[in-house]
Amino acid sequence: MTASKLTRPSIEYKESFLAAMVEYHKEGHYLYNDLEYLNNNFEEYVKLLSKDRGHPHQPHPEWVENVPETVAWFVKDNEYLGTVDVRHRLNWHLEKWGGHIHFILRPSMRGKGFGKRMLQKAIPIANYLGIEKALLTVAPENKAAIRTVEACGGEYEDTLVATNRFPTRARYWINCT
Ligand SMILES: CC(C)(COP(=O)(O)OP(=O)(O)OC[C@H]1O[C@@H](n2cnc3c(N)ncnc32)[C@H](O)[C@@H]1OP(=O)(O)O)[C@@H](O)C(=O)NCCC(=O)NCCS
Repeated sequence: MTASKLTRPSIEYKESFLAAMVEYHKEGHYLYNDLEYLNNNFEEYVKLLSKDRGHPHQPHPEWVENVPETVAWFVKDNEYLGTVDVRHRLNWHLEKWGGHIHFILRPSMRGKGFGKRMLQKAIPIANYLGIEKALLTVAPENKAAIRTVEACGGEYEDTLVATNRFPTRARYWINCT
């Protein structure tokens, strides 16, 4: 049994990552990722994720400035458990929806304390990238995410009401210094 850690995406986690992606799809996450394509082009996919390039699922690329994003995978016992995306800075869209840090745990591994551990480990990455205070935006009904953010020191700022472009989001700041 090995300790959990955050690491750069790697082909060694292919099997568990693809199994997790099936679970993510079932709950409506990452639907833009085609399973067959990932299976056939995993090495290329991992290389792309490791480039600190912009958010791959930018909802409005035509009117939102792209920002660099570092992707880390949360792994334990050589298995993929979750993903953390750290955006190096905010654009006006991420200020309202998205924030600096996005995190997601494989559904079958939730409720065991891993989400909290994963987010805690993301804070030094944000710090390393020069982020002193990280913004996290969460749907107000997402109790698990809110508890996770609060457990990692998140301080509530406000709740932005939905517009035709943005869903309602509660905004929290985590001190990364
Ligand atoms: C948010 C998420 C990462 C939490 O992961 P997890 O491993 O289930 O969380 P943990 O087991 O570490 O629990 C963290 C806290 O949430 C609470 N919690 C967990 N599941 C819960 C649930 N379904 N309802 C209410 N609280 C819950 C835990 O009790 C714990 O709180 P505590 O510190 O007061 O005891 C996971 O639910 C997830 O991936 N959700 C989908 C993606 C998402 O919403 N990401 C956040 C968007 S920024």
